Amino acid sequence: MKDILQELEERRAEARLGGGEKRIASQHSKGKLTARERVELLLDEGSFEEFDMFVAHRCTDFGMEKTKMPGDGVITGWGTINGRMVYVFSQDFTVFGGSLSETHAQKICKIMDMAMQNGAPVIGINDSGGARIQEGVASLAGYAEVFQRNIMASGVIPQISVIMGPCAGGAVYSPAMTDFIFMVKDTSYMFVTGPDVVKTVTNEQVTAEELGGASTHTRKSSVADGAFENDVEALAEVRRLVDFLPLNNRDKAPKRPFFDEPGRVENSLDTLIPDNANTPYDMKELIEKVADEGDFYEIQEDFAKNIITGFIRLEGQTVGVVANQPMVLAGCLDIDSSRKAARFVRFCDAFEIPILTFVDVPGFLPGTSQEYGGVIKHGAKLLFAYGEATVPKVTVITRKAYGGAYDVMASKHLRGDFNYAWPTAEIAVMGAKGATEIIHRADLGDADKIAAHTADYEDRFANPFVAAERGFIDEVIMPHNTRMRVSRAFASLRNKKLSNPWKKHDNIPL
Ligand code: HXC
Repeated sequence: MKDILQELEERRAEARLGGGEKRIASQHSKGKLTARERVELLLDEGSFEEFDMFVAHRCTDFGMEKTKMPGDGVITGWGTINGRMVYVFSQDFTVFGGSLSETHAQKICKIMDMAMQNGAPVIGINDSGGARIQEGVASLAGYAEVFQRNIMASGVIPQISVIMGPCAGGAVYSPAMTDFIFMVKDTSYMFVTGPDVVKTVTNEQVTAEELGGASTHTRKSSVADGAFENDVEALAEVRRLVDFLPLNNRDKAPKRPFFDEPGRVENSLDTLIPDNANTPYDMKELIEKVADEGDFYEIQEDFAKNIITGFIRLEGQTVGVVANQPMVLAGCLDIDSSRKAARFVRFCDAFEIPILTFVDVPGFLPGTSQEYGGVIKHGAKLLFAYGEATVPKVTVITRKAYGGAYDVMASKHLRGDFNYAWPTAEIAVMGAKGATEIIHRADLGDADKIAAHTADYEDRFANPFVAAERGFIDEVIMPHNTRMRVSRAFASLRNKKLSNPWKKHDNIPL
């Protein structure tokens, strides 16, 4: 009996070593942790329960039957993050370069199926040379099995991908279908075709980092939602994100203890809006002053900075925030910001996370590049996302809410539950100057007359009261009371029930 127990320990020790000391050292020398070290850091200490530690590939081509490594290049199982259950897979680059074989895929599918049955998020740590070249189509089939599960799990359980090494070819499409992608600076990259193929086909010379590194995907392509300095920081941030999220679409987001007065008065907000309507101010200041303990978890911080998206808590409960940022492009909506915010709004709605919207938007960005790029369809994504969302929606207009962008930004007409405005709000079809130049075109040569018309327009429309008279604004609130007002609004909406008509699925303008 003792021998058998001993054998189990030996087999476990061998599996834990993955591809062996030399390859582990090589992994460390690149500034990367091993698959197992990553799992340990991601989960609560001692909470990891591993599956399929002894699974090995079944390939017999290219002499593969002689090299079998227990675990087959991926570590799978479940554990907890601050006591809440998550499933995890972590590709082991020290075993066949973390490449995906038929059995490797089966291991991932097994925990994805369990996550769906048990209603818990899946966190995938990617560090892989792609399809196991020796296995050919069996490996491709394995990818597709994972893809199909990503699709079925979308909107049911949160799926988070962390890219911590190579992720190339069709392999990128599994992370692409998850809710959030995080990357590690300098050690991770994602692309459909690598620099060599790019060179051959398009004659462009580009490094892997330029083509698909963390900076590219968080700033240019928006494929990734965040970039971190190293593995340790990335995993700590994933833990922080999970704390905001429900475990599945029938679960409520966790309520955290909070140490902040819901009625906290912020007098500084009374002077946040500059006297000159064209002077920018930092919308993040408002978000942080409203949030419990000023804690804001930003999503896609480096992309389309004219809109801000992320999570805060109010009275300990998770709230998704969408806010125009007057500091960038005057807070205009454009293709990128519409796409960014639409995806965020849909995530919140899928997982019953209430949405708080701060509005200061002068309209949609004009220009040929916007029109040629399809701003009509992309802007419609955000409109559609807000309009279909049935979660509690609270909106605060701080300054400009002009034109179609007023409608889009969680207006009353899109089933906003509480639509507040600060006294500084200007709700109109367009700014006073533009409006005057159109309706008083005949007076354009007379500066005095134009100034008088502009002042008249401002008096009549550059305020929240015309909208409030019609009930489009429920209440004009004092800026210093914003935290109290929105906290009370969300508290009153905790039992909100609203559903959309039956349909197979909608046809959002993709
Ligand atoms: C089998 C692989 C592998 C793979 C790497 N290895 N990729 N084994 N299948 N796809 C093995 C190597 O043989 C090596 O084994 C070990 O992993 C480490 O690889 P190195 O090349 O030494 O590491 P490094 O220099 O860091 O380079 C990493 C790499 C490179 C850039 C990822 O290995 C590489 O280019 N691999 C091939 C990538 C690729 O073409 N994959 C298929 C893409 S197509 P030893 O025993 O020496 O340690 C694809 C389609 C998916 O993925 C489609 C889904 C629909």
